[in-house]
Amino acid sequence: MNRRNFLTNSLALAGSSILAPAISARGYAAPQMGASADRPWADVPAIALPPADIKAAQFPKDFWWGTATAAYQVEGAWNEDGKGESIWDRFSHTRGKVKGAATGDVACDQYHLYKEDIVLMKRLNQKSYRFSAAWTRILPAGAGQVNQKGIDYYSRLTDALLAANIRPMCTVYHWDLPQPLEDLGGWPNRDTAAKFADYAGILAKALGDRIDTWAIFNEPWVFTYLGYGSGVHSPGKSDYKLFLKASHTVNLGQGDAFRAMKAAAPKAKIGSAYSMSPGQPATDSEADKAATARFHAVNNVWFLNTALKGKYPGGFVGGNPYEIMGVQPGDDKRITAPLDWVGINYYRRSIVSAPPAGNPLPYIANDGFEGPLTEFAWEVWPMGLYDIVTTISNEYNKPTIEITENGCSYGDTPYGPDHNKVPDQRRLDYYRGHLAELARAMRDGANVRGYHAWSLLDNFEWAEGYSQRFGLTYVDFRDQKRTPKDSALWYAKVAASGRLDV
Ligand code: FCB
Repeated sequence: MNRRNFLTNSLALAGSSILAPAISARGYAAPQMGASADRPWADVPAIALPPADIKAAQFPKDFWWGTATAAYQVEGAWNEDGKGESIWDRFSHTRGKVKGAATGDVACDQYHLYKEDIVLMKRLNQKSYRFSAAWTRILPAGAGQVNQKGIDYYSRLTDALLAANIRPMCTVYHWDLPQPLEDLGGWPNRDTAAKFADYAGILAKALGDRIDTWAIFNEPWVFTYLGYGSGVHSPGKSDYKLFLKASHTVNLGQGDAFRAMKAAAPKAKIGSAYSMSPGQPATDSEADKAATARFHAVNNVWFLNTALKGKYPGGFVGGNPYEIMGVQPGDDKRITAPLDWVGINYYRRSIVSAPPAGNPLPYIANDGFEGPLTEFAWEVWPMGLYDIVTTISNEYNKPTIEITENGCSYGDTPYGPDHNKVPDQRRLDYYRGHLAELARAMRDGANVRGYHAWSLLDNFEWAEGYSQRFGLTYVDFRDQKRTPKDSALWYAKVAASGRLDV
C-alpha cells in the first residue's frame, strides 16, 4: 500500500463518521481519462521535464552538503543495550502491517556499523549527517529511568562524526514513540507533550556540548495523519479526531521541547523538519483555489505557523476544529517557538481540488502525474522544490532554511563482474534537477544553507519494508555490504565543488 497515496485524502479514515463515498481506496477523487483507480496516470502521457539549468548553479563554499537517515530505518539493534519497545517495533512485529513482514530489527545495522558509515560519508565528501535519536534508547519506558548506554551510543556517533569533520544534525523524534506512552494514549493524549519535552531536554543536555543543530520533529503532519488518521503507519489508528488531537499535542510538544532544549543547551540552533508539498489548483475555479489555500495551511504549515506566529493557520471551512483538537486557554503561548531555522522535506507536488460534501479533510489532494514516476509511483517534479522554498521564504520573512530531505526510490542493483557498480542514472538526474531548482530559489533570494539527500543508505521504508530503495548507497541486506551508486559518486563531486556540471 503506497503511503503517499494516502497522505492527504485517505478513505481509510474509517473512524470518521463523515466519509466521502466518491473517493477511491487509493485516495484519488476520480480516475482520469478512463484509467483505472489504481493507475490513474495510465492514460496520461508523461511530459519531458524542462532541462535543468545546471550551469547557473553555484552553491556557497560553506553549504551543508549532507544525507539523512532515521533511527528506526537504519539502526537495527532493536532490543540491545537496554532499548525499550517503540511503536514501530510493535507495528512491524504485528503481522500484516508492513510489506513482506519486514521489520527494522536489523535494518542497516548502523548501531554497530556507524564507523564504517562515517568512512563512507567521508568518501562522499559529506559535510553534514542528519540522523535521529531513538527515544526508547534514552528512556526505555518513555519517561523515568534514563538508559546511559543509549546516551553513550549517540555520544560515540557524535564524536566520530566530529572527528571526521562532519556536522552532526540530530532529529529528536523521527516517528518512534515509546510503546508505553502509546499505551497511555500516544500523541492524542496531551500529557505526551510534556514527556516529549523532558526527553528532548535530556538529549540536549547530554549532547548539546557537541551538537549545535537540532530538528525537534520529523514530518509532524505525516506521523500524526498516517499514524492516527489513516492508520497506514504505526500505531495504525484510523480516527480523524485522534489525528486532530495528536496534531495539537505535537504542536504543544514542539514549543515545550524548544524551551527545554534551549535551557539545557543555550547555544543549540533548533528547528523542525516539515513535509511540504506545493499545491496547484486542479482548475481555475474559485473553489479549487480556496481548497489549495486550505491544503497549504493544513498540510504544509500547520506545525510551522504555530511555532513562528503563535497561531494555527486558517485551514478549515467554518473555522479550525479547536474543540476537537483539545485547545485550551494559554496554549497559544505554549505552541510558540521562535525556531532558529526551518527544515523542508520535499518529495512531490499536489494537485488540489475542492472536496465533496462531508470529506474529512478540507480539500482533495492528488499526486501530479505528468512527470516521470519513481519506483514508488511518486512523480518527479523538481520545480516543486523551487515553488515550496520560495513560498516559505516569502511567507515567513526569509528564515534560514535547510532541505532536510529530498530523494527518490529506484531499484537499481549492483552490476558488473565484481558487483561493485550501481548505475542509477535516473537518481542522478533526479538530484541534479532538484538541486538546480534549489539553486534557482537561492538566486531568487531564499536563504538556504544546507541540503540533505534522502538517504545515505537503502533502508527500512516504513510500511513498504525494504521494497523501496532510496539510498545513494546500495545495501545488500543479506550481508550489510554497502556499494555507493553512481549517483553517490556524482553527489560526492557536487559536495566538493558546489557545482552541478560535474
Ligand atoms: C519521508 C520520511 C523518511 C523517508 C522518506 C522516503 O516522509 O521522513 O523517513 O521514509 O519519506
